[in-house]
Amino acid sequence: MRRRRLKDGVERLLAHREWLVEEPEKHRGQWETVTGGRKIHLEIGMGKGQFITTLGKDRKDIFYLGMEIKEEVLLRGVEKAIEEDLDNLRFLWKNAEDVDQFFAPGEVERIYLNFSDPWPKNRCAKRRLTHQRFLDKYRSILSPKGEIHLKTDNEKLFEFSLNAISGEGYRLKNISFDYHNSGVSIPATTEYEDKFSASGMKIYRLEAARGEG
Ligand SMILES: C[S@@+](CC[C@H](N)C(=O)[O-])C[C@H]1O[C@@H](n2cnc3c(N)ncnc32)[C@H](O)[C@@H]1O
Repeated sequence: MRRRRLKDGVERLLAHREWLVEEPEKHRGQWETVTGGRKIHLEIGMGKGQFITTLGKDRKDIFYLGMEIKEEVLLRGVEKAIEEDLDNLRFLWKNAEDVDQFFAPGEVERIYLNFSDPWPKNRCAKRRLTHQRFLDKYRSILSPKGEIHLKTDNEKLFEFSLNAISGEGYRLKNISFDYHNSGVSIPATTEYEDKFSASGMKIYRLEAARGEG
């Protein structure tokens, strides 16, 4: 049954393959042919795509890429982009493990990590998307003024991320321990964010700049 569902999900996703960048490694170092020279903002683990679709509608000067490994949720994001007919948003059905194979040094201006899986057990720490292993890959693709923007409901993941990111020499800024009650305007929310904030949970947020500012 699950196999069947998986096959259906893959088929439905591939029916919209013009929205996918299927071999991103072939664009490494020459993404301007895809983006038309616009700067790249990449959301890793984009889920059903509400966040990146909202940004894509508002900021036509930016080229958005959503990366996701699960085809069934990615499909939902693709469907949203189709509805909005966005020409500045495309998708990577890929694993963040390989992100540095898809972009040349300095090719990405911003990375969004929204409500990444917390992997609470210590023995799984290496899988967290803010583990040093991943931060090294992000550093290699971010432009000198590039930034990581992170949101989470998970206090432990937030603490881990603050430590890992500052240990990697990024400059932390705009740290919030209760983003939704901090008085700043929120340009876009994710599906998880809406769910957690509606149930009264705090949302943690940080920005990390690669350069010296
Ligand atoms: C907890 S969900 C959050 C989804 C969305 N960002 C939101 O806030 O609504 C985490 C998502 O990250 C994806 N993900 C986890 N590890 C990933 C990886 N290594 N590469 C790409 N996507 C990943 C999962 O498939 C899942 O859809």
